[in-house]
Amino acid sequence: MTDRIDLTNPERRMLRAMLSSPSSVHTLEEIMNACDWNDQAVATGAGHGLSDKGYVTIQESVRRRIHAGQEGHNAISNGLLEARLWSWISSQDEPTMAKLQAKFERHEAGPGVGLLKKLGVKLEGGTFTCEDTSSLKSELQAREMFLASLPADEEDLSERLLKHFKGRKELVEFVEHRTRTWVLTDDGKAVSEEGLDERKQISEITPELLQSGEWKEAEFRSFDVTLESTTPRTGRSHPMQELIERIRRIFLEMGFSELVDDYVQTAGWNMDALFIPQDHPAREMQDTFYLDDPKSLELDPELIQKWKDIHEHGGDTGSIGWSGSFSEDVSKLGLLRTHTTVNTIQHLARNPNEPCRVFSVDRVFRKEAIDSTHLPEFHQIEGIIMEPGANLQMLVTTLKTFYTKMGYPEVRVRPAYFPYTEPSLEVEVKWKGKWLELGGAGIFRPEVTEPLGITSPVCAWGMGLERLAMLVLGLDDIRQLYISDLEWLRNQPLI
Ligand code: PHE
Repeated sequence: MTDRIDLTNPERRMLRAMLSSPSSVHTLEEIMNACDWNDQAVATGAGHGLSDKGYVTIQESVRRRIHAGQEGHNAISNGLLEARLWSWISSQDEPTMAKLQAKFERHEAGPGVGLLKKLGVKLEGGTFTCEDTSSLKSELQAREMFLASLPADEEDLSERLLKHFKGRKELVEFVEHRTRTWVLTDDGKAVSEEGLDERKQISEITPELLQSGEWKEAEFRSFDVTLESTTPRTGRSHPMQELIERIRRIFLEMGFSELVDDYVQTAGWNMDALFIPQDHPAREMQDTFYLDDPKSLELDPELIQKWKDIHEHGGDTGSIGWSGSFSEDVSKLGLLRTHTTVNTIQHLARNPNEPCRVFSVDRVFRKEAIDSTHLPEFHQIEGIIMEPGANLQMLVTTLKTFYTKMGYPEVRVRPAYFPYTEPSLEVEVKWKGKWLELGGAGIFRPEVTEPLGITSPVCAWGMGLERLAMLVLGLDDIRQLYISDLEWLRNQPLI
């Protein structure tokens, strides 16, 4: 008899085991024992293989078992409600409703009395009576015995009592047991046991195998590449991190260098340097996180003086400033940066005469109430271009190029206002037919650049990263980005 090359080793073992009793119905336990397996999946897999090849037929049967439910278990340990009530009633000389209500809690007394009434108990003038106590008692006993016999097969139980208990809450529940059995087909019976020896198969190629030359004689295990497999779960970056990396790559590719700086800053750099008036509403406690420690930070007195001049009367810029009086103490207040413009402006102050293209993707803080579009901590994509001749067209082209590389080629700008830029722009991209505002941009005003000794024009922008992330990932709730929903995280495409 030729070897059955079409069979895997587990299939050979299972077929052999079945051939020792060719006409019987083989159960899972039997097969597992005979084959010396302890993993059900091996038996199921081999059974499927044999069935595909026409050697066995699989029979599946579903058996419904009745188990005690939550209340059923209570009844088994404490007695069935109506039985407990009846035993109390029959122990009383004068079993009145009032006394019963004092003895049993309302959630038991009400339904319990209802059940007893259906069994012939009557309430006459506030007192319980029963004409036929013996059939009442035998019914109560039958019910308790029914519960005590659980779990049981549906066929083995009284149909009437099962129907009764099914109508009551959580007394019984149904559990389905699925069993599988295997029977040899005629083709299966015709297989000769001689061809069923298990073969030594190689499933892994080792250096030893290659060096010794043994592989020439070896038999290799074949893989069925059409079978369904589980998706391997490996670690991966958070989608936000992936997006940040992608933005970085785009700006680096466009010739920008990255700026990373602290988020603890002074109000001076965060606002005064940017010509944001000291009474601007965004500086209030309800919009900005001011720090208790450090409450205040030292600043160069010369610098403060320059800002003071600019704010109070425009300094030497020809501007008239904001008028009013400028407080040095307010300048020194410590805060969590509310925008990353605080960092680009300091970069310019350190390098006022060196043309540059700089960007950052970093975290900022604002006292926002959390909702589907706001978070108190979020990220900005910030950037500047400083060089002789830098102009608005350059700024718009740069932003368009960036968003096109991100996959949003339709970009438009609209006039806007920021205290530190003139002209100022709002940047919008088209998404699903709608224009969405993603950030602000403009050219720094002389009130910002002159005190710092910057002589070339500076194009600047600051845009929301989470907003963009919502577009890229198709979200309508910003919170989804940070709630660590593993299922969602695993299913995110690699962007
Ligand atoms: N800093 C602004 C904001 O936080 C954005 C901006 C940056 C606007 C640079 C103009 C220039 O919204």
